[in-house]
Amino acid sequence: MKLFSQGGPVASAISYAGLIEKIEILRSTLRWSSKLDRPEIDRLLKQATTLRDEVMQLSHKERFVQAAAAETEPLEQSPRQRREALLKRSFIFEGTFGDNPKLLEALEIAEKAAPTDLPVLIDGESGTGKELMAKVIHANGARTDKPFISVNCGAIPDNLIESELFGHKRGAFTGASNDRKGKFESAHTGTIFLDEIGELPLPGQVKLLRVLEAHEIQRVGSDEAIGVDTRIVAATNKDLRRMSREGTFREDLFYRLSVIHVTLPPLRERRDEIALLVAYFSDEAAGALKRRPVTLTPRLRDFLMTYAFPGNIRELRNLIYRVSCLAGDTADLIHLPQDIRPRPAGPVVVAGEAAVTGAASPASLSEAKRAASDEAERAFLERGLQEVGGTVAELARRCDMNRSHLQMLLKKHGIHSKDFRVHHSAEVVKEP
Ligand SMILES: Nc1ncnc2c1ncn2[C@@H]1O[C@H](COP(=O)(O)OP(=O)(O)O)[C@@H](O)[C@H]1O
Ligand SMILES: [Mg+2]
Repeated sequence: MKLFSQGGPVASAISYAGLIEKIEILRSTLRWSSKLDRPEIDRLLKQATTLRDEVMQLSHKERFVQAAAAETEPLEQSPRQRREALLKRSFIFEGTFGDNPKLLEALEIAEKAAPTDLPVLIDGESGTGKELMAKVIHANGARTDKPFISVNCGAIPDNLIESELFGHKRGAFTGASNDRKGKFESAHTGTIFLDEIGELPLPGQVKLLRVLEAHEIQRVGSDEAIGVDTRIVAATNKDLRRMSREGTFREDLFYRLSVIHVTLPPLRERRDEIALLVAYFSDEAAGALKRRPVTLTPRLRDFLMTYAFPGNIRELRNLIYRVSCLAGDTADLIHLPQDIRPRPAGPVVVAGEAAVTGAASPASLSEAKRAASDEAERAFLERGLQEVGGTVAELARRCDMNRSHLQMLLKKHGIHSKDFRVHHSAEVVKEP
């Protein structure tokens, strides 16, 4: 998707987005018109809707043609070059990592959208970086030193959402003991991030539409209109287009919010980024926990490379914080939360597990034997330590082994007996 590119034939995309924006304003104005009668409003609305759909179609067609024409562009520029180009243009990444083409595209759109005041809609699964992207947009725009106010529309009870967004007048409802300003007023001159916008109940959607149109709010229980200049970035993990077809999300609001639409890919579609993110979060966790970064065993690394990450980057980050907290120098599968940890592998299962977790296949039979034997040894030691709660002397006694030999084996595998003394079902570390 190319929006707002400068120069050349692409420039006409600017006017399409601008036109759609204008038609939306016209439609909203019509809807609330007090001077026209209902049938007249409905007739004009219908015409405006047809016009909007035609412009949308034209704009899609044009973008399609442009995309086809620009097909060679990504081939000419490697992801690294695209990232470097952004850096050269002083783009602020706000800690956004990754060279996945879809992520770079999202960043390039953010770069062009940031200096404008156009609303941006970001969609993607939970944990894909929607809030981070909203901050990127804020940071790269002219409002960067003004407030960035985040509101989670899904976390506020329906009856309080309007007061939360627009504020209230004293006595507006039971419990409203004082005048209170809402998030929109707090975000005045800055950016408001409306997270989980799909959760906003219909009455709130109507009010939001009016704010978008008139740039003013009314506190609940007050007639006074207060002007607000707020840039809106909304996020959702829902399919708003489908919701508007089903009548649970206002179509006009959807179009108003999604003048610029950015989609963030789930982590499982950008596995190539995992190694980079692991390294980044290991350093970050080490800093936060005041320790040295953990080393990951090859099999933990393999696990991370193939795991589905339903919670996306947030889950990866939490996992790295967790293992950094629980492990000694080296983190292993045992440090993963119980519910995602692969079952402990016996010597026979090991080979199968290696295949499942995508470990590189050994080059020769003897290498395969040695790898299997190493795995068996490690699994044996870990299981043993788990059974004896991390007491090496006890394990040595039980397997009738020399204690210093056992210590040597533990060292060879980077296993720390003290890791088996911690409470492994500890809660996942919360984001600091
Ligand atoms: N591309 C990325 N690079 C680095 N960290 C990221 C990236 N995307 C997300 N994160 C981190 O993952 C966590 C979840 O991101 P967030 O923006 O809250 O996701 P969402 O709003 O989509 O649920 C945050 O700690 C964020 O900093
Ligand atoms: Mg979020």
